[in-house]
Order: sequence, then structure tokens, then C-alpha cells
Amino acid sequence: MNPKHHVFICMNRRPEGHPRGSCQANGSGPIFDAFVAGVEHNNLGEQVFLTGTFCMGPCDKGPVLVVYPEGVWYGKVTASDVPEIIEQHLIGGKPLERLRIG
Ligand code: FES
Repeated sequence: MNPKHHVFICMNRRPEGHPRGSCQANGSGPIFDAFVAGVEHNNLGEQVFLTGTFCMGPCDKGPVLVVYPEGVWYGKVTASDVPEIIEQHLIGGKPLERLRIG
């Protein structure tokens, strides 16, 4: 197996009211689901791997995800942004600048 892209999506959850919040509390579940649906819809199952992670650091910019091998970080992502990330970055090879962080 040799995927073209590997997407790591922060799925970390902290207790409600925690000062750092968490990506899960900010909607990373629907983001993961949107990636699963988008990968399937575009028949990218062998080219794009998806992995949920614990905290990756920049919680204040969450929900965050990072796309390898480029190491491109995205922040404040919503589920409705996912089709654009798939189309422009994972298929088109061009990172989506408006959501890029770091
Ligand atoms: S909780 Fe997602 S980056 Fe920290």
C-alpha cells in the first residue's frame, strides 16, 4: 500500500468547559465523516488514507488536520470545506490557501 496522501485529523476530546477546548468539541467528527464520504465518492480509497489522532498542538486553531507528504496544515475547518480540500489539494495537488495554518 502506497497512498498518495495521508490525512491526519485531530479527533481529540476534552471535557466540556476545558480552557483549551478540543477539536472534537469543535466539530472534527463531521469532518472525518465528510472525508470518508468524499474519498469514497471520488474513488480515492487506494490513494488517500485517513487517520484520526489525539491532540496535535494548535488547539486554538481547531479543528485542525494535516496532509502528508506535503505537511500542509489546515485550521478552523468545517465539514463543508472538505469537498474543496479533496478536489483542490488531494486531487488537484494545490493546497487550499484560505484554510492553511502554520
Ligand atoms: S485538540 Fe486538536 S490540536 Fe489540540
